[in-house]
Amino acid sequence: MTGIGLVAWPPAPIRTERLVLRESEARDREAFIELNASPEVNTYLGGPRPRAELERTVPEVPGQRRGWFVVELGGAMIGTIQLKPHAPEPPGSRRLEAGETELGYLFLPETWGRGYATEACTAALEWFAGAQPGEPVVLYTQTANAPSMRLATKLGFTELERFEAYGAEQWFGVRPSVTPVE
Ligand SMILES: CC(C)(COP(=O)(O)OP(=O)(O)OC[C@H]1O[C@@H](n2cnc3c(N)ncnc32)[C@H](O)[C@@H]1OP(=O)(O)O)[C@@H](O)C(=O)NCCC(=O)NCCS
Repeated sequence: MTGIGLVAWPPAPIRTERLVLRESEARDREAFIELNASPEVNTYLGGPRPRAELERTVPEVPGQRRGWFVVELGGAMIGTIQLKPHAPEPPGSRRLEAGETELGYLFLPETWGRGYATEACTAALEWFAGAQPGEPVVLYTQTANAPSMRLATKLGFTELERFEAYGAEQWFGVRPSVTPVE
């Protein structure tokens, strides 16, 4: 096995110019619920989940998974970045063979349009390239999700294929590993 499954977790917090990427903590619970309950955040992700259900089911410390970063600005969570095992695909498919680790990102709407997602994803991808040199990262997004399409392109993902799923056109991109800056 390669990919995110072999990486030592959690790493020390990663600091960028404006942000901190770190493992989740109990104090992030309300922001996790907000991310999942937000209609704007979930427009292209199957829709929001009922807040009452989230209040009941989200664990005390949410997002405790290898490769799940909380993105913090000024001491508060503004989003999450996930480096996770590649979503299931039929054996032998081009998408499955393109890479074992998949990137996802969710930011609270009031923080959009300031470059935070680009800054945080860049740092997470550099960290991953240092931990698993040579490993590509893959990404799915709906083509209708314009901000996500722009972000994927800025991060260096290129299209492998488009396909129909969940009643919408999906975009599948791959980013070759880059050598981390020393
Ligand atoms: C996808 C998502 C993370 C993109 O967020 P975003 O804030 O638009 O992305 P970026 O961090 O790249 O910000 C880019 C914008 O900030 C602007 N910006 C302002 N200050 C900036 C700065 N200092 N540096 C860089 N960009 C800056 C850019 O001009 C750009 O504006 P534009 O989109 O009008 O061209 C966000 O829309 C989101 O969370 N969506 C819901 C979840 C989702 O759909 N995820 C996809 C699942 S794969």
